[in-house]
Amino acid sequence: MGKINIFTQNKRFPVAPNLYGLFFEDINRAADGGLYPELLRNRSFEDSLVPKECSCDKEGYSVITPSGWKDEFNHGEGLSRWITYNSIPYTPIPAWYSINAKMELDTGDTLNKNRSAALSVKFDKGGKIYNIGYSGIPQRAKLMYCFYMFAKVNRPQRLVISLEDDKRILAHTDFLLSKEGYIRYDRILTASEDSVDARLVITCPEGGCIKFGFISLMPRDTFLGHGLRIDLVEKLRDLNPGFLRFPGGCVVEGITSSTAMRFRNMVGPVWERPSHLLMWHYHTYNGLGFHEFLQLCEDLNMEPLYVLNCGMTCQARCPVLMEGDALEEMIQDALDALEYATGPENSKWGMLRSQMGHPAPFKINYVEIGNENSGTDYESRYLECYRRIKQKYPHIACIANAHVEDSGLPADMVDEHFYNTAEYFAENIHYYDSYDRGKPDIFLGELAVVRGYAGQLYGALGEAAFLIGAERNQDIVHMASYAPLFENVDYFTWFPNLIRFNNMESYAIPSYYAWKMFGMYRGDYVVESREESDILYRPVKGMASLLGQADICFKNATWNGNPAEITHELMGRVKREGKICRITAPDEEQQKEAEKLYQVDPDRIFVILGQEDEQQGCFEIEILAEEGKAVEIGLFSSRMPKEVYVSDETDPPNEWNAGNVRPFLWKIENGRSTITEFSYPNGRKLAEDADVELSAGKYNHFKYETDGKRIGLYLNGRLIQEAYVPSFQSFVSVVSDTETKILIKAVNLSEKEEPIEIVLDCDVKQEYFAAVLTGEKQAVNSFENPQNICDREVCRQGASKKFTYYAPPLSANVIRLIKK
Ligand code: AHR
Repeated sequence: MGKINIFTQNKRFPVAPNLYGLFFEDINRAADGGLYPELLRNRSFEDSLVPKECSCDKEGYSVITPSGWKDEFNHGEGLSRWITYNSIPYTPIPAWYSINAKMELDTGDTLNKNRSAALSVKFDKGGKIYNIGYSGIPQRAKLMYCFYMFAKVNRPQRLVISLEDDKRILAHTDFLLSKEGYIRYDRILTASEDSVDARLVITCPEGGCIKFGFISLMPRDTFLGHGLRIDLVEKLRDLNPGFLRFPGGCVVEGITSSTAMRFRNMVGPVWERPSHLLMWHYHTYNGLGFHEFLQLCEDLNMEPLYVLNCGMTCQARCPVLMEGDALEEMIQDALDALEYATGPENSKWGMLRSQMGHPAPFKINYVEIGNENSGTDYESRYLECYRRIKQKYPHIACIANAHVEDSGLPADMVDEHFYNTAEYFAENIHYYDSYDRGKPDIFLGELAVVRGYAGQLYGALGEAAFLIGAERNQDIVHMASYAPLFENVDYFTWFPNLIRFNNMESYAIPSYYAWKMFGMYRGDYVVESREESDILYRPVKGMASLLGQADICFKNATWNGNPAEITHELMGRVKREGKICRITAPDEEQQKEAEKLYQVDPDRIFVILGQEDEQQGCFEIEILAEEGKAVEIGLFSSRMPKEVYVSDETDPPNEWNAGNVRPFLWKIENGRSTITEFSYPNGRKLAEDADVELSAGKYNHFKYETDGKRIGLYLNGRLIQEAYVPSFQSFVSVVSDTETKILIKAVNLSEKEEPIEIVLDCDVKQEYFAAVLTGEKQAVNSFENPQNICDREVCRQGASKKFTYYAPPLSANVIRLIKK
């Protein structure tokens, strides 16, 4: 039985008003064809163009940046798996096909200076071209769709525009093109029937040459008429978000200078906005731009949080560091963005905002300088951006990507990202308890369970537990957002994502409902509460391994007294010399493999001994100690649960590789014994270090024994350290109140119902309410069953100064008591 003692008289601090918010990034084709419901893919014909600084391999499979980053491109179709999954037939101009017509890109005679290509078509009599959209063009009976195109002819031409699927014509219209130059032609098309797989067909009955500068087809009805897809914005609205971080993510950084995000490409008439290749493998036409983000913030009453590129491209992808004029251009771009948002109507950029239909300034109080950047290259650029922004906009809070204050730099907030397992989040609810309150405030800009129970109920509960930790520390943790937000299921790049959609429908994963419940019920003050609960240990399994520098010699390895065989040579090869085994350096093939993996040193050895399913037992080994060389033994060396990106049956199962096996590491070096676990963003010690002595030049005896909870570490027969497998509370809670209500957020991570005794310092009404999220550990939502896991409201009787609330097994609960 658990217990929560609640002291409403002891207010700890006010709640952070905008704790829960959104992070939008154009990943998984979240924008065009999604939140920004353009139904034509490659509306500007630029998808197959390679960024100007890049080259392409022969087959058009990859783009290669001058600094050496290689990315899948497939002549503009994006990832190979999208081509297979959506059965996309080959075309040199992605999404566009022809019948009795010849298409060609014209990169000279384009619609305007920001367009890099036009589509030039030579139609035979009755010839046609068509666009297949984002895995088909959706049509709903009686709904209206706004079509427009910029086209150019040298003699009058009649064009028929229709929406068709394999069986029928759903809508059609025609135009007489007669004037010279690029002219805009508009029409509303109304679908006669539903169709999930239509295409837009352009037919030229008489035949002739026509140049198209830009073509668009969008639903007429959008959220508040502001151009965004209704069901998706409604899902955002229901989260009750306090802020929106945009436009990324890694897309802000880009992979080359021309693919880095710039504000000025995201404003003005959409056909004048340049497109560019996003580092998530496809082009953006920037229709969902700076203005649209600000408008969305206004519509949903969110604080805009603009992430700017600080003059460097993605550090994980062979970065380009901008300097001099190039850096100045990026800083000026950021300042121009702020003028666009908030400048008077007579300022250069304020005037454009006004022309775009918003004469009054938008608000903007937060700016993030860079995304996931760090190190000295970042710090110098960060400081320059910070100074220039503060000079002009002192009220704007500047958010750093790293703890730049440790280098003496100013920062209002630091953005920390967490991608991990449900257990990791549950184990770390105290992460910010001892955070130095003199340091900058914390923004949890990206947070999600991405391994193990990713996208499932238990993943949502792990996040909810961590958010309870954040709420308990919301005097310094001021903002938090899940990442990523959207996924077009036909084009996934990352998994999981909070909201999944196809052309017709959308649904949210269980995490959405946990975040929604927490965002909906906030209270005014966090009040003191103390809880008692059981402890659960992280499930661990796996055998021993040896890691570190090459040429380690060992003998007599045993597991529970039986020989422990070498089962996987992940890095390095084991050579037997009689009873002695020597692990040689990784060979060329292994080194090459390692370069493709995340955070794997191609020179380190990594060899596994024994079977994966072991949980308890005793491992012994004799290792030759050498002066100046560390001994590194892995405990619980098993494959991690499913990895980010690996989300469907087309991906290979989890492999035995050095990136996918992350054992606890027992290391003896320079007279110190340490035991740590790898975790992102920071590694973690599992016990205090111990001073030890190795006999150099001799075989030393190493042993660890574990029952799956406790770990004993022995050197030459002596117990030198004791550690524990990470554990977490079976239920965790946080309490806030208002004048009239008490709000208890409680997460039960155990598979049993948890009776929680609630003890209050004030009287409450008998009747109370709770929002409850519960179900099977691995339960998911789907298009077929979108609300299989969602918050359900219950009304109960029996609340009093001391009463018992029964938290269902595996549940997140927001209990609302009414003060008397
Ligand atoms: O959310 C997906 C990616 O994760 C973001 O682009 C990046 O900031 C992080 O690495």
